[in-house]
Amino acid sequence: MRIEPASPAAVRDAAEALKKGDLVVIPTETVYGLACNALDPKAVQKVFDAKGRPSENPLIVHIAGFEQLEDVAESWPHLAEQLAERFWPGPLTLVLPRKSIVPKITTAGLDTVAVRVPSHPVALSVITVAGVPIAAPSANIFMGLSPTSAEDVDPAIAERAVLVIDGGRCEVGLESTVVDLSGEHPRILRPGGVTRAQIQAVVGRPLGHLPPPSVKGGPGMYPRHYAPNAKVVIVERINGEDPGLTFQEPRTSEQIKMPDDPRAYGANLYRALKRLDQQGLTAIYVENPPSHPDWEAVHDRLKKASAD
Ligand code: TXA
Ligand code: MG
Repeated sequence: MRIEPASPAAVRDAAEALKKGDLVVIPTETVYGLACNALDPKAVQKVFDAKGRPSENPLIVHIAGFEQLEDVAESWPHLAEQLAERFWPGPLTLVLPRKSIVPKITTAGLDTVAVRVPSHPVALSVITVAGVPIAAPSANIFMGLSPTSAEDVDPAIAERAVLVIDGGRCEVGLESTVVDLSGEHPRILRPGGVTRAQIQAVVGRPLGHLPPPSVKGGPGMYPRHYAPNAKVVIVERINGEDPGLTFQEPRTSEQIKMPDDPRAYGANLYRALKRLDQQGLTAIYVENPPSHPDWEAVHDRLKKASAD
């Protein structure tokens, strides 16, 4: 395992490794991804193995631009073009009918494929130079916190990759918004870097919510996810010197003051949880953010991090 600063040489090495069927960790604007050639079933299997990810949880396929959508998706509604026009490259993933060239292991046997164009220049260059679509789940062990910097990539993941490219801190810090366009009505399957309001502004009407987590077969909708080792407890106000994330002035080194803007909060959330988790705490208390809809992705991650 090698960690290298982003450079044209590192991008070339990563692209070569991907073409050979090896894994690399790449920065994206959302979180770091454990990348492989999305069309190579053996490489995709390595990603599932490295993460300890259940085979029923499909991967996102990353392409370099809308022009490549036809390489992986069989068809798409006009709405896909409108959303791509507005949000690509960026933190939006579209679920569309799968083209048969995409192996079933990549999509966990589904006839749909999740696709996005990342905006991080390193991710875009790696995809372009490799010349293949890149499957990349977040570079964390299944259910753990997603890394938002190269140093936060779990060593157990990094050692499965031939190269980790350090592209700095992720600007968004939460995963992409996943929108299902494969059915009759568009649905948000996972809130993320693009808000519901931004998507609804393009769609022109309110969108359906994801099905309740008890519905089996909803890919990736595990109640517990994005979780540190410590127990996460959501509270209205942190009590005294309890460790955790607060909107007030911190009273100890085990309290971190979080921004009161949802984007800035999202960009810092995983990092802050990770820093506290590294102190070996048994519990991390998190002050409940405002209930405004722009906090939907933050609430989603906090809910999953605090689930049993
Ligand atoms: O921001 C992101 O999306 C990051 C970066 C690396 O691009 N990737 C990421 O991948 O978060 P992952 O594997 O951690 O999450 C992918 C999510 C899961 O919730 C999965 O169930 C869903 O996308 N997904 C993938 N393919 C799908 C499909 N065909 N239908 C429904 N959901 C799908
Ligand atoms: Mg993930």
